[in-house]
Amino acid sequence: MAVLSNCDPEVAALIRAEEQRLAATIDLIAAENHPQPGILEAQGSVFAVKAAEGYPAARYHAGCLHADALETLAMERCQALFDADHANVQPHSGVAANWAVYFANLKPGDRILAMRLSHGGHLSHGAAASATRRCFRFAHYGVDPATETIDYDAVAQLAARTRPRMLVAGASSYPRLIDYPRLAAIAADVGALFLVDMAHIAGLVAAGVIPSPVPHADFVTFTTYKTLGGSRGGVILCRARFKRPIDRSVFPGCQGTPALNMIAAKAVCFRLALQPEFRSLQQQTIANARHMAQAFQHRDYRVVTGGTDNHLVLIDLRSRGISGEQAEKTLAAAGLIANRNPIPFESPDPDRSGGLRLGTPAITTRGMREKEVDLIVDWIDRLLQNPDHDRPRRSVEAGVADLCRRFPLPS
Ligand SMILES: Cc1ncc(COP(=O)(O)O)c(C=O)c1O
Repeated sequence: MAVLSNCDPEVAALIRAEEQRLAATIDLIAAENHPQPGILEAQGSVFAVKAAEGYPAARYHAGCLHADALETLAMERCQALFDADHANVQPHSGVAANWAVYFANLKPGDRILAMRLSHGGHLSHGAAASATRRCFRFAHYGVDPATETIDYDAVAQLAARTRPRMLVAGASSYPRLIDYPRLAAIAADVGALFLVDMAHIAGLVAAGVIPSPVPHADFVTFTTYKTLGGSRGGVILCRARFKRPIDRSVFPGCQGTPALNMIAAKAVCFRLALQPEFRSLQQQTIANARHMAQAFQHRDYRVVTGGTDNHLVLIDLRSRGISGEQAEKTLAAAGLIANRNPIPFESPDPDRSGGLRLGTPAITTRGMREKEVDLIVDWIDRLLQNPDHDRPRRSVEAGVADLCRRFPLPS
């Protein structure tokens, strides 16, 4: 960073501080990961300069020889990784990818059926605070109160009643597998298109350690920076017959110039995900999450749905006299970074939620396994039992520092 330090010492200092924060804390945010340095190098590369409106061999700017080769490479790797007919790698984010799918297929006012935010869905699936809700008429399905898993019969009934143009599956805090064939059949029954937003689980799907939605959905969107281990960005996969409307909806419909530096980072991320080691990493991510859920249950915590099939664990703290927000702050003060999350059927306001969402992608990337998960759960338990005391905080801080030293960030 010698050049940046000369050019802008303030930003250079902030970057250094953020590097140190990441190295010295344990990241349990289910939506985060630690990208390999090659990915960040590609993201910070000279490809950030080029304007390249359009697509390979059909650009609105000259000088796109290398841009075309790069985007083609990213698309080919992505299609191979997910066995998809077509990949559009230009969306700047997961939400941008969802907007492009909506606008490729729907008119303002059309009906969409999606999972409720407070039951695990995402803002861009028609939450009250999202502009998606102002453009389309959303109906929402949720989970069954007894099992806390998706109630597919209720989804079928709701679909029959509301006749949506599009059915959306996928979630931000749903710890169980989703039955894609069942949802695809429900969509087909009512003549709806089927979108799966697999932002959280794309890495698990790429590695083949959980079922893929690709054979069942018309469209699949995802982000590259969660389980997949890349840096920020979105992608759309679609069936061959939707290639043209999807591409036109991304550009010129919803976005302008693609961020070629992000596409470079995506290409590197896909290459890494195609390596055999990636599969073991994703298997361990799930093993760590399962172990974490069990370790909390042994300590009498209520784990939403009674466990997990993926990379995240949702803990219900309501009976323990501490809110999700307090828990988040207490853990962060000791170097454990997680986030509060609503529990199905409680107030949907995340600031008043009684849940804590914990994820294992980042710790697994650092090489941590079940033994380290036990330590982390023990620390979280001690902190949550004594949120106002300095002694447990200081001892956990020392443990976190030691663990971070033993399991450095990817280099
Ligand atoms: C299911 C789902 N979709 C979309 C997104 C949004 O991605 P982005 O923040 O990159 O727009 C997220 C982010 O957490 C998500 O969980």
